[in-house]
Amino acid sequence: MTGTAAVGELEQALDDIACEMATRTDRGNVATYIPQLGRINAGAFGIAVATHDGQVLTAGDAELTFSIQSISKVFTLTLALGSIGDQLWRRVGREPSGNPFNSIIQLEHENGIPRNPFINAGAIVLADVLLGGHEPREAIGEILRFVQFLTDDDTITIDAAVAASERATGFRNFALANYMKSFGNLHHAPEHSLGVYFHHCAIAMNCRQLALAGRFLANGGTNPATGFSVISAERARRIAALMLTCGHYDGSGDFAFRVGIPGKSGVGGGILGVVPGIASMAVWSPGLNENGNSKLGSIALEMLAKRMNWSIFAP
Ligand code: DON
Repeated sequence: MTGTAAVGELEQALDDIACEMATRTDRGNVATYIPQLGRINAGAFGIAVATHDGQVLTAGDAELTFSIQSISKVFTLTLALGSIGDQLWRRVGREPSGNPFNSIIQLEHENGIPRNPFINAGAIVLADVLLGGHEPREAIGEILRFVQFLTDDDTITIDAAVAASERATGFRNFALANYMKSFGNLHHAPEHSLGVYFHHCAIAMNCRQLALAGRFLANGGTNPATGFSVISAERARRIAALMLTCGHYDGSGDFAFRVGIPGKSGVGGGILGVVPGIASMAVWSPGLNENGNSKLGSIALEMLAKRMNWSIFAP
């Protein structure tokens, strides 16, 4: 993204989209199965884009923090690959599940190996990898520091009330963890792996911070602001490929069809999207569609990608 004309066009697009989203009345439903998330006002909408040449453009409620939930799985996948490399793929698959994010049905047929790292079962295995013999609080601290490092912002924190709310009601996640433990695919006590999982899902960020955190994925593994390599270009491409194929659960095909870029959603209503070589972006609107992905967030990214011709399939 270079030139003032292109930046002006992007700025105008973000403002137009935020205005349009403010008028929408059908905003989806806020997740209530984690009681603390059910308290969020569905009226919010924020969007931020961090371009590869260091600009950050925002519109709407881009400075309000929200629970990033499953978007955190992009960061734990990055760390788990850094920790054990391709051995990870012995414990987690790389195929879309075609099932809801908290489904247990494939696990029995597939011997406790989750379909991909972004469904809950897969992310609980990632948390188990990151425990690596440490205390849960050390692994949680490592994940939080990684996100702070990516954004160069140590004000980012974990919302302890959200983590506690999820633990208190996370019966399905306990079922998934215990089931995988029975197959030998968790190496630590399920409650410890889940402790890490619940806490990284409860990281609170705003759209601006999230867009900044995704820059390395849009820029061949390197943070464009510092020039520091976070991961190899090949690994960045592979994580982005998994975001495209699995990042929206049983709505992944539809998101790829409509938006055409790698993205990762969370039940807090956020979506992180990356346009390789151009920008990373974050959108937040708490109301969810039937697949548990942000309803207006998906629509906004579809509008933005179309207007800027940002599909990865565009010539
Ligand atoms: O485990 C859960 O249910 C939540 N912590 C995360 C789920 C989630 O964000 C699914 N995303 N759309």
